[in-house]
Amino acid sequence: MENVLVTGGLGFIGSHTVVELIAQGYKVFIADNLSNSKIEVLDRIEKITKVKPEFFNIDLTDKEKLFNLFSTYNLDSIIHFAASKAVGESVQKPLLYYKNNLSSLINVLECCRELKVNNLIFSSSCTVYGQPDKLPVTEKTPKQQAESPYGNTKQVGEEIIEDYCNSNVDFKAISLRYFNPIGAHDSALIGELPLGIPNNLIPFITQTASGIREKLNVFGGDYDTPDGTCIRDYIHVVDLAKAHIAALKHANSSKVNYDFFNVGTGKGHSVLEVIQTFEAQSGMKLNYEIVERRPGDVEKIYADTTKMNQELGWSAEKDLNDMISSAWKWQKSLIKS
Ligand code: UFG
Repeated sequence: MENVLVTGGLGFIGSHTVVELIAQGYKVFIADNLSNSKIEVLDRIEKITKVKPEFFNIDLTDKEKLFNLFSTYNLDSIIHFAASKAVGESVQKPLLYYKNNLSSLINVLECCRELKVNNLIFSSSCTVYGQPDKLPVTEKTPKQQAESPYGNTKQVGEEIIEDYCNSNVDFKAISLRYFNPIGAHDSALIGELPLGIPNNLIPFITQTASGIREKLNVFGGDYDTPDGTCIRDYIHVVDLAKAHIAALKHANSSKVNYDFFNVGTGKGHSVLEVIQTFEAQSGMKLNYEIVERRPGDVEKIYADTTKMNQELGWSAEKDLNDMISSAWKWQKSLIKS
């Protein structure tokens, strides 16, 4: 059985990936400092999988604790999710973002080097492409100057990993550039748990529909898109979780020691389309208003997923209806609990 350490394994994408890893027979170890997740998620994972992964409340900026974990267990691979991820907050607190996201990555890589763990999957983001000139974006689309310190941590993170791969031929790493992960596990036992007022569209919609927020502000109705609102490539979190397992298998067998892939569906949906899908799925009318643009928003972006489809044999299985209905089922379960 392969031992996989999942950092940030109690978070939104991390927890769904842990469930898929267990289903595929991996032994999972979770390191998470609970800064943006809850310990209850561990029990939820156990409810779904009937397996309780080993859990360590560790801040990855603490190298000593991380090293202890690495040296106690014979780890084969690392999936590194743990990071701060709020774009706006990163502009206010850049040093916190560089420290949390980069020094923890360096600690992970140093532990890998010191204990000869040779596989890493890294959470990157389509934010590395900025607003591309041509759509859809392929992995060859040039990266652009990051719009925020958060985005920069993803760009620099990828570079650090690539440089390290170049210096160590035994080390294999893959960066996955996520588009917009949404939705929740079918069981509605795990999902996204935003702290405070959500920044992202889907939790804001579901919280508005359940009366927690008064109305949704749609940021900008005058973009150069068919209905004037921004376009994104939304991907179901369970599909994204499965992409990590495909990447893990690929890294193990690949001759290339560093690679990167887009993970999306390849389809773009506007904000208004998302709202209409929500209304159709829930049978409710959503209270929303089109307001000013949000600074820093990209107008439209969606992925070319050919590389992922062909080289990793992975493709998204779920569509926007599945994403929205599962996110709504999850939100309703939160209200009940
Ligand atoms: N939106 C609204 N109202 C809201 C929230 C969002 O209209 O209350 C709109 C945004 O303007 C955007 C779309 O919904 O057009 C999606 O916004 P999200 O905040 O859900 O997602 P982003 O595409 O802005 O950001 C996501 C991730 C980031 C990542 C970025 C990369 O949250 O971590 O994609 O492009 F960096």
